[in-house]
Formats: sequence, C-alpha cells, structure tokens
Amino acid sequence: MNKKKIALVFGTRPEAIKMAPVIKELEKHPSVFQVTVIVTAQHREMLDQVLKVFEIKPNHDLNIMKKNQTLSDITINVMKGLEEHFIKERPDMVLVHGDTTTSFAAALAAYYQKIPIGHVEAGLRTYDKYFPFPEEANRQLIDNLADLFFVPTELTKNHLLNEHKPKSQIIVTGNTAIDAIQYTKHSKVEHELFSQMTTDKKWVLLTMHRRENHGEPMKEVFQAIRRIVDQNEDVAVVMPVHMSPVVQEMVKEVLAGHERILLVDPLEVDAFHKVMSKAYLILTDSGGLQEEAPALNIPVLVLRDKTERPEGQEAGTLKVIGTNQERVYTEMATLLNDKEAYQKMAQAPNPYGDGTASQKIAVALKQYFELDEKG
Ligand code: UD1
Ligand code: UDP
Repeated sequence: MNKKKIALVFGTRPEAIKMAPVIKELEKHPSVFQVTVIVTAQHREMLDQVLKVFEIKPNHDLNIMKKNQTLSDITINVMKGLEEHFIKERPDMVLVHGDTTTSFAAALAAYYQKIPIGHVEAGLRTYDKYFPFPEEANRQLIDNLADLFFVPTELTKNHLLNEHKPKSQIIVTGNTAIDAIQYTKHSKVEHELFSQMTTDKKWVLLTMHRRENHGEPMKEVFQAIRRIVDQNEDVAVVMPVHMSPVVQEMVKEVLAGHERILLVDPLEVDAFHKVMSKAYLILTDSGGLQEEAPALNIPVLVLRDKTERPEGQEAGTLKVIGTNQERVYTEMATLLNDKEAYQKMAQAPNPYGDGTASQKIAVALKQYFELDEKG
C-alpha cells in the first residue's frame, strides 16, 4: 500500500506540547503513515524543552529564532524555509496547530504548493482581530486555507459551520492538551520547586506573555499581585518567566526581590504540570493553561479582556478578568478568602475531552485518505 506522507510543522512551546501526542499516535501506524516532523524553532530553548520531554527528534529544523523577532521575520523565514522542503518532498498532508505565526506561515507555504492542510485546534474565535494579536487573525487565515478541521469542541465546530466550512471536513476531537497531560502524568521528573511549594501557603501560579499585554497591562497585573502578596503572609507566587525580553524586563521591574514571589526559568512541561497541580489558583493570559487547568480542577483568573475558550468559562473554571489593577486585586482577594466561591470554580467539569483527541485525528486521516491498515 502507498503510505501517506504526513508532515507536522510547529515552532513554539504550546504547539509542540499539543502536537507531540499527535506525532506519537501517528507513529503507531507505520504501515499507513510516514511521519515527518519539521520544527521552525520560532522558540529555541522552550521548544527544545518539549522535544526532550516527549523524546521527539525532528527530521528538519529551520532554526529561525532571533532575539526580539518581529512577526514579519517569523513569517518570511518560515515560508522560505518550508518552500524548498515542500517542493522536494511533497507531503500528502501538512498538519499545523492553533494560531501562531509559525502555523499560519506553514499553512500558507503548503497552500502555495497545493498540499492539503489539516488544522489541529481549529475553529477557536474571539472575532476581534486584535485580541489576541496576531493569533485571532492567524487562526482565521489558517481555517481559510485548511482542508481538514480538527476542532476541540462543539462550539468551535459551530463557528466553522457558520463560516460555511463543509461539515464532512470538521471532526470534533477534544483538545490534544488533555492527551499531553495523560503523557506527562507518568513522568518521574524532580524539581526543587516541588519541595519549596509548602502546604502552609496558598500558591498562586502566574504566567503572562501575550503581545497585547506587553507594557501597561502587564505592569498593572504585576502591581496587583505584589500588593496581595505584601498583605497576605499565607500567599506565595510562583512564576516561570517567559523568555521574551519584554516580559523579563517587566518582571524584573515589578515582581523581583520578594521572598514569597518565586521567579523561575521556563519549566519543562512535565514539571510544569506538577507545579500546576500544587497550585491553589492560576493567573494567566496563556491559551494552553485555560485548557489544562479545568482538567486539574484549578480555578483560573484569565488576564485578558476576551477569551477564545469560553467553554471553560461556561463550565465555571475560568473567569475572564482583564488587566485592570483594582479588578485583579479584588478577584484574587475573593478567591483567596471566599471558600464557597473557590470551591464552585474548582469543581467545574473539564470541557476539553478525555485525552483521545490524537486517536481521533489518526482515524480521521485514515478516512480522508481511505486507508485500510489491514490492506
Ligand atoms: C509566541 C506566539 C504566541 C504563543 C507564544 C507561546 C506568535 C505570533 N506568537 O509568542 O501565540 O502564545 O509564542 O509562548 O506566534 N525567546 C527565547 N527563547 C525561546 C522562546 C522565546 O529567547 O525559547 C525570546 C526571543 O527573544 C523571541 C521572544 O522571546 O524573539 C519572543 O518570541 P515569540 O515567539 O516571537 O513570542 P510571542 O510572539 O510573544
Ligand atoms: N508550560 C510549560 N512550562 C512553563 C510554562 C508553561 O511547559 O514554564 C506549558 C503549559 O503547560 C502549556 C503551554 O506551556 O501547555 C502554554 O504555553 P504558553 O503559555 O507559552 O503559550 P499559549 O498557550 O498561550 O499559546
């Protein structure tokens, strides 16, 4: 039988975490799929951390990252790097994930070669092209180019149906982030943070990096957090700081030098998931954390004005609070002091699937190519 060449392209930490389970699953079917992993390395160190945990060795590495890279730098370098490969190797399908500029540029490069595109985590929307920026535009553009849409939920399926995408090409899978948690939970990783996070304190896990939060919004949030920690001796914060120089500078300016604010380098994902499970509360503007936290029953205050993940909000685990200092302060204080409000959020169900998204993607790919594994 003719094997189908499936090329997975990704470049940042979150894409790698959510594509790793798909790679693992497709590799279980070597008689029908020939899997090629292409990394752009839009992130270098943070990508390599994920590849190490999941033991993935890329077939090609475009190695594009530059300090303070612009969106155009990423777009141009990804497209140029992929063009040659796509012309030479002609994959039968290119899989991209989510909404990063790597994913958009890879989808466009595939489209220019008329190679079918599968979009993992398709259909998320805020319908505001500047929130989040540039991710909302990226994912809409990718969905305009894609041939198969692997959507995490019914809501995301409905977005695509409303945009007149063919029903037969939309597959509800759940989110592969949950598959990744199933993998990391077996890890025996050790980290000094695990013993530092003592149970006599309420630990707040903080991550923040979005481009639209750079500058004043980030400063407001950090100031609110610092006030809370100053006023409550039983509250401590742990923040794995994103490697973006813009984030690092603001962290240094507002959060550094407090004995109950632990600032650490980005954690390997298995260690991070363990830290998450020890947290009392999460404050974040991350997309991935909004999917993972409901699976671990931890309340999340979302540091954004809008979310493309309203399922978690509807279920009750997430509360979208923006970045105003007074609002962040009040919402944190409530969850730290009001047990009932806290429990209500902590017990909400996880809307992002049962950890079998990658299996569903493999089945859908076999159907798309009419592959019969036994044949
Ligand atoms: C990018 C994605 C965003 C995603 C985020 C996940 C786009 C437009 N943005 O964010 O959707 O939520 O990744 O983290 O695709 N850096 C390093 N080493 C690393 C990673 C980053 O030094 O391993 C530094 C570099 O100086 C780099 C900067 O961080 O220039 C920013 O990286 P970049 O990928 O451009 O980040 P974002 O666009 O903020
Ligand atoms: N994560 C990690 N180490 C960290 C912080 C986060 O492995 O120090 C993981 C987290 O579990 C989630 C993903 O990285 O799966 C989220 O990435 P990020 O917040 O950078 O991007 P986003 O999800 O916002 O696109």
